[in-house]
Amino acid sequence: MKNTRSKELFEQARTKIPGGVNSPARAFKAVGGTPVYVASAEGATFTDADGNRYVDFCMSWGPLILGHARSEVVAAVRDAAGRGLSYGAVHEGEITLANLVLQAFPEYERVRAVNSGTEAVMTALRIARGKTGRERIIKFDGGYHGHFDGLLVKAGSGLATLAIADSGGVPSGIAETTLVAPLDDRPAVEALFDRYGKEIAAVIIEPMPANNGLLLQRTEFLEFLREITRANGALLIFDEVISGFRLRFGGYGQMVGIRPDLVTLGKIIGGGMPVGAIVGPGDIMDVLAPVGSVYQAGTLSGNPVSLAAGAATLRILRDESPYEALAAHGEAFVAELSNGAPAWVKGLNVGSVLWPYFAEGAFPRDTATIDRTHVKRFNSIFWKLLERGYYFPPSALEVGFVSTAHTRDQVLGLARAMKEELAAIA
Ligand SMILES: Cc1ncc(COP(=O)(O)O)c(C=O)c1O
Repeated sequence: MKNTRSKELFEQARTKIPGGVNSPARAFKAVGGTPVYVASAEGATFTDADGNRYVDFCMSWGPLILGHARSEVVAAVRDAAGRGLSYGAVHEGEITLANLVLQAFPEYERVRAVNSGTEAVMTALRIARGKTGRERIIKFDGGYHGHFDGLLVKAGSGLATLAIADSGGVPSGIAETTLVAPLDDRPAVEALFDRYGKEIAAVIIEPMPANNGLLLQRTEFLEFLREITRANGALLIFDEVISGFRLRFGGYGQMVGIRPDLVTLGKIIGGGMPVGAIVGPGDIMDVLAPVGSVYQAGTLSGNPVSLAAGAATLRILRDESPYEALAAHGEAFVAELSNGAPAWVKGLNVGSVLWPYFAEGAFPRDTATIDRTHVKRFNSIFWKLLERGYYFPPSALEVGFVSTAHTRDQVLGLARAMKEELAAIA
């Protein structure tokens, strides 16, 4: 595979941009080597700076459920851009997006649009603290909620414990307002509530944890979180930045019949442009300024171009409901991957979210049970897959995404390529 131009570009970037990247997951550190530079993208594929073409299963880490450069979305962006890139003033597109989101989440009354998933989560936590007058938050080990101080933490030692910073630059005082529990661990959450009950403002969880592999939770565990938060006067926040609009025109909470107090959205609701949102009932959301005292603002919040891309995407998802067809692709991938392969070659899908998992035994539900041999095996075939024209997210612990632009053959091709390359290293 020729990648001289990508290498040259990365060398240039490294001298000017920390690590050469504007977001660390793009640096290929987990899989080794240097990243391929994207030159252009269309549908399910992109072409790199050396002219190699790949079937893309990263899809910008989730937003591109309709594929790259879907014509209606690009047209909406061009049209909006022609009418001004940003106003810093109210415009009708804000109401259009809010209406589409609330059509999908009819159990709520308010939406506030921000610029990223991180901002959505940061604001949701501030709302929870403002609403309850409490400071502590519970998150789960392996859950990723953006690069916000209070959530860049990991568990300290012991069961019912304060978190410690998992990044330089996070003040310990902030890290300590977060409590961390293992996923799928009811006693750990109970212990935290026993010890800190009336100090806990919110529990935040990805209801479909997809940032450390796909750590599917039992619905009973999510129901338990609903009950224990309600009983203790804390809010339950479902972070649906990945799962929102990915599996249905709405959220994962609706799929399992659980109504959290707040939902955070991002990725798909921007259709590839920077957008995040917080959704919730009026009595909670109206603590936000200018109605209430909880401050949140943004020069570019509700940006007309971003919201136009999001609205075009959501309209297509509402009107075409591609979810069954997407799920069929996910299922075809999983079936083909294990077909005729050793037991340790397998995959898990929730709709169009894919996680190949190259290890024996059951799929893990928490980070501690992820088998590290999976990571080694994934890393050893990652570049082989690239050479064969398949771009999967560059980490064994990231999930892949299928879009409406992918064909069944492309999905089966990825599964076969993985299987063959694994057989070659076995
Ligand atoms: C569940 C979840 N929450 C929040 C975020 C942060 O979103 P952003 O990267 O748009 O800030 C992410 C990003 O991957 C995410 O997966």
